Amino acid sequence: MRQDKRQDETQDDFAGWAGLVQAQMEEALDSFLPQPGQVPSSLHEAMRYAVLDGGKRVRPLLVFAAGELVKAPPAALASAAAAVEMIHAYSLVHDDMPCMDDDELRRGKPTVHVKFGEAMALLAGDALQAQAFMVLAGGAGSAPNRLAMVSLLASAAGSAGMCGGQAIDLASVGVALSLPELEQMHRLKTGALLRASVLLGALCGSDSLGGPERAALEAYSNAVGLAFQVVDDVLDATADSQTLGKTAGKDAQDNKPTYVSMLGLEQSRALAAQLRNEAHAAVAMWGEDAIRLRQLADLIVHRKA
Ligand code: IPE
Ligand code: IPE
Ligand code: MG
Ligand code: MG
Ligand code: MG
Repeated sequence: MRQDKRQDETQDDFAGWAGLVQAQMEEALDSFLPQPGQVPSSLHEAMRYAVLDGGKRVRPLLVFAAGELVKAPPAALASAAAAVEMIHAYSLVHDDMPCMDDDELRRGKPTVHVKFGEAMALLAGDALQAQAFMVLAGGAGSAPNRLAMVSLLASAAGSAGMCGGQAIDLASVGVALSLPELEQMHRLKTGALLRASVLLGALCGSDSLGGPERAALEAYSNAVGLAFQVVDDVLDATADSQTLGKTAGKDAQDNKPTYVSMLGLEQSRALAAQLRNEAHAAVAMWGEDAIRLRQLADLIVHRKA
């Protein structure tokens, strides 16, 4: 009974912490985005629609959790987190377009191309990507530190990261990938930005991350990065569109290779649980100080949307 109570308190505490970061993030994103009415207003409206008032903000939460571990200043964390969330939001806008996954629902609202037209969705994604790097370059910290962060995020977003994974995803429709090929696709299209979130948070606290701390954060983020997309595949096959805020069952409909199509539901869930344990083990060296990172690994694996 006492233990249950303690566990509940820790959970409440996590919900409170996450709510605070999410609220702070909403404010930071609002201020870092072009203001409504600023010309060209239709483009700026589309950018704000894509980013504000939606999403779980898992990447910002990872930035803050890793940053708090190394006592990073909150202002630096806010700009790093906003930058990675803008890249993520742009990736969703383009992912939903007819030339990619052709989806009409995102974060419980019509997708950007449905609401603003395809050309504006394309431009909103492009402009969000540029804005992300402007925010990061103009953030707190020394010039070499900001350069390291810009370089890290660029590599995670580009052809060796998210875009590369998306290219493999599109080329894999109806193709029987091997398990290592599927893992590589997931690590790039989704894992890369999650890994960058963790490392950006840590970089906000120190100019160079070296030795065992870096290795531990790499191991943690590799595990949660893959787990995130395994769970995304499971939810696509098991949850409903209203809960997800995006069209359920889309992977099977589009004949995409996923963990569910390759391993089945039970083994996919088991893999996610194993990755969650790996993530916990990776940050054991910090003991209680890594509680937020452990709670985020739990959230990523046990989430319902
Ligand atoms: C969805 O990401 C796209 C993937 C990379 C799997 P999220 O599940 O983080 O989407 P939001 O930000 O909460 O809407
Ligand atoms: C997309 O993966 C990953 C991105 C880089 C956006 P999905 O295509 O599975 O994401 P959802 O399911 O549409 O959110
Ligand atoms: Mg996709
Ligand atoms: Mg998609
Ligand atoms: Mg998906």
